[in-house]
Amino acid sequence: MYVVRPAAAAAAAFLGLTLTVLCGTAAAAASAPGPGPAAPSAGPGPMGLGGPVVYAHRGASAYAPENTLEAVDLARGLGFDWVENDVQRTRDGELVVIHDDTLTRTTDVEEVFPDREPWRVRDFTAAEIARLDAGSWFADGRYTGARVPTLREYLDRVRLNQQRLLLEIKKPELYPGIEEDTLEVLDEAGWLEERRVADRLVVQSFSADSVSVVHDLRPDLVTAFLGTPAVADLPRYAEFTDRINPMHTTISADWVAAVHRLRGAHGRVMEVDTWIVDDAATARKVQDMGVDGIITNAPDVVREAVGGF
Ligand code: G3P
Ligand code: CA
Repeated sequence: MYVVRPAAAAAAAFLGLTLTVLCGTAAAAASAPGPGPAAPSAGPGPMGLGGPVVYAHRGASAYAPENTLEAVDLARGLGFDWVENDVQRTRDGELVVIHDDTLTRTTDVEEVFPDREPWRVRDFTAAEIARLDAGSWFADGRYTGARVPTLREYLDRVRLNQQRLLLEIKKPELYPGIEEDTLEVLDEAGWLEERRVADRLVVQSFSADSVSVVHDLRPDLVTAFLGTPAVADLPRYAEFTDRINPMHTTISADWVAAVHRLRGAHGRVMEVDTWIVDDAATARKVQDMGVDGIITNAPDVVREAVGGF
C-alpha cells in the first residue's frame, strides 16, 4: 500500500513548476545554446540545486497498473509531474498507450477474445481494445476496470493533472508512419504549443531512425535516444537528439561525462536519464555518476534516496 504525502507532494510540485519557469531543463540551465564543446554542467537536477529529475515509469507502475490513467493519477498524488509512457497503434489507426506488442500480459484479452491468438495490439481495433480490462491483472484487484487508454485520453489526463510527459514510441518498426501519427495527436491535443514543447514534453525511442524522423518533422521538440551508444558514436546522435537514456547497468561516470561534454540537437548540454532504478542504493549510485534523470517504477523510493524532483 502506498502512502500519499500531501505536503511533500505539494512542495515538490511547486518547486518543479518554479524551477521550470525559472530555468527550463537542467541542460538549459547548464549552458547557453551554441555550437562546439559543451560548457561544464551545473550538476544534476535543475540548476544543480536538487537531485536528478524523477520520472514515473509507465506512471507510478510499482503501485498501479502500468500505462493506465490510474497510474498517471497516482504519480500526481505522490507529487510527480513527469510520467513516462509507451505508444503503439491499433488495426484501425488509433494510438494507444501500452508497453507490450501483445495484449496478453496486461489485459484480459484471452478471455474476451479467445480466438484471436497471438493477441497483437496491431490486430485489434480501438473499440475492441476499449472493452478490455487492463487493471484486474495487477495486485489485489483494486484496479479492476482500468482501461488501455488512447493516446488522446492519456494526453488529456496528463495535461489536466498539470504533469509532463516522456513519451516513448514503442517498436516503431511495427508501425510505419507512427511518428507522424503521434505528432498529429500531440498537435490536436495542444501538446505542440511552444511553451509545452519547451519544458513539458520529451519524445524518445529505442529506434535512432524514429528519433531522427521526429526531430526532422518537429525540430523544436526535445528528443531522447534509448540506449548506450559507444562514446565514439555519441557525436552522431547529438546531431538529431538532446538526450541519451541508457539502462543503468550499462553506464559509468566516465560515460555520463562523455555525454555531458556534447551539445545536442538544440545546442544545449546533452542529458542522461537512466532506467529502471527502483531501489535507493542504485538511485544513489547513478546520482553519483552524474545522471540528470532517473526513470523509475517507484518514484517515491527514488525521491527519498536522492532528493530529486
Ligand atoms: O523510459 C525507459 C524505458 O521505458 C525503456 O524500457 O521496455 O520499459 O519501455 P521499456
Ligand atoms: Ca517505455
